[in-house]
Amino acid sequence: MLLAVEEIPQVEMEFMNKTHAEEVTILNEIFEAILNYDETQEANDKLDELYTTWLEHTIEHFKTEEVKMQEMRFPPYMAHKGEHDRALQEMRNIFSTWQQQRDIKKLKIYFIEVVPAWLENHIATMDTITARFFSTGMSPCGI
Ligand SMILES: [Fe+2]
Ligand SMILES: [Fe+2]
Repeated sequence: MLLAVEEIPQVEMEFMNKTHAEEVTILNEIFEAILNYDETQEANDKLDELYTTWLEHTIEHFKTEEVKMQEMRFPPYMAHKGEHDRALQEMRNIFSTWQQQRDIKKLKIYFIEVVPAWLENHIATMDTITARFFSTGMSPCGI
């Protein structure tokens, strides 16, 4: 397993916690497919399918947070959205490199060294502050 749901910080908005738990499930499925990878076409197809599921889930995940931030006029909206855009672009770049090179080691390193740390950190910082604003209307920045 790459990540346990219990390792993910809980925020003050249930819809966000639910989305994060779903993402952990998808990430664990991808990691299992990486560990079982045997260089066959089926294994490539399986990984492509799971990665695409993760991308689609993430696009929806980020968009839902961004729409609510805009609706509630969250002051640091641009900082949070900017980090979503950066992470999503990185995910797309890694996917296209994977599809071109089929280098399983590179993919494995990304999923071990980058993704869990990013997700935990993003939830513990930006999502935590944003969820608090959603539930209390209070901004941490005083602006
Ligand atoms: Fe989130
Ligand atoms: Fe976020």
